[in-house]
Amino acid sequence: MAEPDAFPPGVAYVDGTYLPIAEARISVLDWGFLRSDATYDVVHVWRGRFFRLDLHIERFLRSVARLRMTLPVDRDGLAAILGECVARSGLRDAYVEMILTRGRSPTFSRDPRDAVNNFIAFAVPFGWVMTAEQRARGIDVVIAGTKRIPAESVDPTVKNYHWLDLVAGLFEAYDRGGENVLLTDMDGNVAEGPGFNVFAVTGGRAATPDRGVLEGITRRIAIELCGELQVPVDPGPLGAAALRGADEVFLTSTAGGIMPVTRIDGAPVGDGRPGPLTARLDALYWARHEDPGWTTPVDYGETRGRGSRC
Ligand SMILES: Cc1ncc(COP(=O)(O)O)c(C=O)c1O
Repeated sequence: MAEPDAFPPGVAYVDGTYLPIAEARISVLDWGFLRSDATYDVVHVWRGRFFRLDLHIERFLRSVARLRMTLPVDRDGLAAILGECVARSGLRDAYVEMILTRGRSPTFSRDPRDAVNNFIAFAVPFGWVMTAEQRARGIDVVIAGTKRIPAESVDPTVKNYHWLDLVAGLFEAYDRGGENVLLTDMDGNVAEGPGFNVFAVTGGRAATPDRGVLEGITRRIAIELCGELQVPVDPGPLGAAALRGADEVFLTSTAGGIMPVTRIDGAPVGDGRPGPLTARLDALYWARHEDPGWTTPVDYGETRGRGSRC
């Protein structure tokens, strides 16, 4: 058990400075903290290479524009800061987050236009949605009574920290003996869970919700990989009954890739074991982490005599 005041290793970029993650701080008056008024994105580094950095940066810049915020750096500047956080941390497998908060108003004004947007980035060790044991056997997911915040209230395609529904759902799942949770929308269709999208595979076709969810980069990659395997994908409403009756169910996330669900509310999905398509997609997904077209190497500066440092 880690000490309660311990931190993982890692490096943050705050107020234009690189710091050990344990020393990174923001103001308590930042709207990101007070109002969840922020957007963010998470990209991972695997064996020293960013995976689909271009897609994560694109989604982040779109989210920033949708929230009417201004990033103090351009696309290349952003990529350079993310790379520098990883390089300084020395981490070969990293979870890399870029955040723009509404920031703080010098006068504590209630007008969001008065706030000065605050850019933060950090790299910490790669973190998984599931443990290795859970990935091998698949998890038991609960379909919660808690509803996902409607898309009409908070745009889920803008990656955000409105997670109280997802966290309430997690507690609901734990109380019911489950290991993780899926929330439904107001119409009762399955939406997503804390940090992942969901797919159901039935009769050789895959289905995934297309409304009220974050358009996950891993979801997009899973759809592309299904295409390569000639598995048709139907993005659209996915009812809870269809999910329960599927041959296979899997989750997708930057924090773990393509991960099997083998029970829903305690009842087996298919034969209760991770499905064959899930396993093939998972293998393809990780194999692509070597593809130069999908990855960007981190410059750790070893050739320039720079080791791990902050
Ligand atoms: C609510 C939500 N849905 C889905 C995802 C999966 O998105 P991605 O594949 O881009 O990691 C995330 C990622 O954190 C998320 O927070």
